[in-house]
Amino acid sequence: MRRFYLETFGCQMNAHDSEKVVGTLEQKGYMQVETPEQADLLLYNTCSIRDKAEQKVFQRLSQLKKEAARGKVFGVLGCVAQQEGERIFEKAPHVSLVCGSASYTKLPELLVRIESGDKRVTGLSLETSETFDTPFTRRDNPHRAYITIIEGCDKSCAYCVVPFTRGPERSRTSDSLMREARQLAGMGYTEVQLLGQNVNSYRDPSAEGWDFARLLEETGRIAGIRRVRFTTSHPRDFVKEIVDAIDRTETLCDHVHLPAQSGSSSVLKAMDRLYTRDDYMRRIEWMKQARRPIAITTDIIVGFPGESEADFNATLRLLDEVEYDSIFSFKYSPRPNTPALSRDGQIPEEEKSRRLSIVQERQRAIQLRRNSELVGAVEEVLVEGYNPSTAQWIGRTSQNRVLNFTTPGEAPEKSEMIGRYFRVKVTRAGPNSLAGERAA
Ligand code: SAH
Ligand code: SF4
Ligand code: F3S
Repeated sequence: MRRFYLETFGCQMNAHDSEKVVGTLEQKGYMQVETPEQADLLLYNTCSIRDKAEQKVFQRLSQLKKEAARGKVFGVLGCVAQQEGERIFEKAPHVSLVCGSASYTKLPELLVRIESGDKRVTGLSLETSETFDTPFTRRDNPHRAYITIIEGCDKSCAYCVVPFTRGPERSRTSDSLMREARQLAGMGYTEVQLLGQNVNSYRDPSAEGWDFARLLEETGRIAGIRRVRFTTSHPRDFVKEIVDAIDRTETLCDHVHLPAQSGSSSVLKAMDRLYTRDDYMRRIEWMKQARRPIAITTDIIVGFPGESEADFNATLRLLDEVEYDSIFSFKYSPRPNTPALSRDGQIPEEEKSRRLSIVQERQRAIQLRRNSELVGAVEEVLVEGYNPSTAQWIGRTSQNRVLNFTTPGEAPEKSEMIGRYFRVKVTRAGPNSLAGERAA
């Protein structure tokens, strides 16, 4: 059992956890392969945020059932593993390993037990006081690196599984974080992305006692780091010091993702989000008054139980008022163990779909307008790739916009472009991206 295949679902935290899983396994002599057919160990790092995400992994497990007959070992990791625990063995009897994110340091041990004949092993403890702080991360991207600063979530939003799937909040020490960030800079990474379900509640457990704003500034000062991003910010814990830090520190990107979920204070209350629309708008004002042009993005849930037409309209007005640069919008999905699951006032699926398309249409127009304002501007991009079908380089601006661009004259080599920074003049705008030409 030496060759493993790993498929990852879900958020950046999961993507980064997978990098740590790969590093941990490679260090023990396992080798990652590209297809399930080549592997003798098949791992799925799963997401359970919405029902669809959860269903995806069970579909995958049933599609590949025949591989189990060939003696291959199946493991389910991540949020569905933590949520469903041993029930996964009933739903998918060919699975031998179920392990949640707080137990990944134990993975090698669990695999040894399977090799020595155990049919079903689990790593499901959430009591761990450690964070998954491993020196063996195998990063996928050579230019942008994820760094987990805080694990878990202490909020209890009425719709959300994360507090159950990832356990309570645990912050890493500033010392360990700074060491990792400096090491990454030394390896040539120029962008770091600080990750947590709620980065704002980061609190350095060591005597230094840094808060999140301090951590941001210190990360931004590391020689070699040109861009620092962070996600996600819970509005309740989003303080003005974060905006001040962005204003003061050029390497902090001009972008804040601040999930509103709803524009209606009564829905926010029912969601247990711990802020009102006014509280939220105050934070938006801080950003709009900043010296730097901070792009603001958000997450919206439509059709939360009890959401009236008036509540929904309040969300539409929020979109108009804030003029987000981009949003993620979702239909409310009832989730196990969550308080909202059994609430009255569940909204029919068709109505949720109707509300979702209205939100998306409204936002599309806003984005087109916002993006059009940038035509003529010169933006610095980090080049992420090349699109041969359009002959454009794919760049990303500090504000997290995609800016596809061409270069004058002969096409340069990829190695001269990818991972480097260029100034690009914006010539065209669409709702989801910009196009331009490399500027002098
Ligand atoms: N910690 C982050 C959110 C992580 S989950 C925060 O508090 O902002 C990412 C997004 O998924 C959430 O912001 C929310 O918009 C959405 N989401 C979470 N649970 C959901 C559910 N049950 N149904 C629909 N969307 C959900
Ligand atoms: Fe879920 Fe709320 Fe925690 Fe975000 S803050 S992870 S939405 S419980
Ligand atoms: Fe999904 Fe877990 Fe992330 S539920 S969104 S993978 S924290």
